[in-house]
Amino acid sequence: MFNALTAMPADPILGLLTQYRQDTHPQKIDLGVGVYKDPIGNTPILDCVKTAERLRTESETTKVYIGPTGSPQFNTLMTELAFGNTHSALIADRIRTVSTPGGTGALRVAAEFIKSCNPNAVLWVSDPTWANHTGLFEAAGITVKTYPYYDYDSKSLKFDEMKAALNNIGSDDVVLLHACCHNPSGMDLTNDQWDEVISITAKQGFTPLIDMAYQGFGDGVDEDAYGVRQMAAQVEEMILCSSCSKNFGLYRERIGACSIMAKDSTKANIAFSVLLYVVRCIYSMPPAHGAALVETILGDAQLKQQWLDELTVMRNRINGNRQMLVNKLIEQGVKQDFSFIANQKGMFSFLGINAEQVETLKKEHSIYMVGSSRMSIAGISETNVDYLAKSIATIL
Ligand code: LMR
Repeated sequence: MFNALTAMPADPILGLLTQYRQDTHPQKIDLGVGVYKDPIGNTPILDCVKTAERLRTESETTKVYIGPTGSPQFNTLMTELAFGNTHSALIADRIRTVSTPGGTGALRVAAEFIKSCNPNAVLWVSDPTWANHTGLFEAAGITVKTYPYYDYDSKSLKFDEMKAALNNIGSDDVVLLHACCHNPSGMDLTNDQWDEVISITAKQGFTPLIDMAYQGFGDGVDEDAYGVRQMAAQVEEMILCSSCSKNFGLYRERIGACSIMAKDSTKANIAFSVLLYVVRCIYSMPPAHGAALVETILGDAQLKQQWLDELTVMRNRINGNRQMLVNKLIEQGVKQDFSFIANQKGMFSFLGINAEQVETLKKEHSIYMVGSSRMSIAGISETNVDYLAKSIATIL
């Protein structure tokens, strides 16, 4: 049976990690996978996570099955973090949440849930979007189409084209929106633009699926949830997928959440039963450790404050890296305007070079970024930025 297989290409993002690790160049730079790095290139465990881990080890009494919902306390705290704990939809008991294996797990659960609602639903994603969105939804049997989003020439949003496309999407379909820190472009909707998108969503009646993988990496935990909260206030149904990989630095623990908001509490219960069935059929129940850490942090005022402080350090460092790269490119005499990098948000920006130049940066300078020229800005540091800017100047 296996003879029928043909080899799959390496993943465009994760494949880079293997190449980077094998590279022996002393000045190699990893701008590939979206992980936070400190000034010396480490991805540290947050102090609040270390404390939570110690507390959990002391207090944990069983490893018995947790059930398809995952941890109820984690689910409640994550719902409040995303929607705000006084949101009208929460008060009306319209939201149900399950813990999932990472944000990717949340998306796969959402995909299967959408198929249960309407097997013919088309999922609309931004052009461009996270490299795994399309494969993930197509693997679940969902047709994926794109709406215009980023203008590579002007380095800005194609907002009018986006609105025109959304105005043509009907109530049977689902539109995936990035809550903040758009991956891969770093180009976010302003609050006013969110308001317009939300009006179109309410008017057209399609279901919004918001992917929030970077809450707190843009402007702040509450600021980054503007679109989620406003959308939930103005539509009857929505799906939210969130991740604790980046903002809690829990990448390998695989913890995220999938929330569904229904028209009322009774409909939410029905939808929830479907969600649990979907979970049972894919992986039965989520891993517990990451959720235990997050609920320990969010459930304790002091630990939560420590987490918010550590998150602020990460956010500020990434934003500082953005400006630092722009300044260094100017210092290298680069005439092209890269100021857009400083204005974009979150972990990523497109450098805006072609695939051949990306390849040259990799082969001749040991600088790794995704073929689309998406850079993980967190991989820049005070020690590598001069070499990076010089190498970019060379290939330009
Ligand atoms: C990324 O986009 O680099 C991250 O979300 C990691 C991943 O799984 O692709």
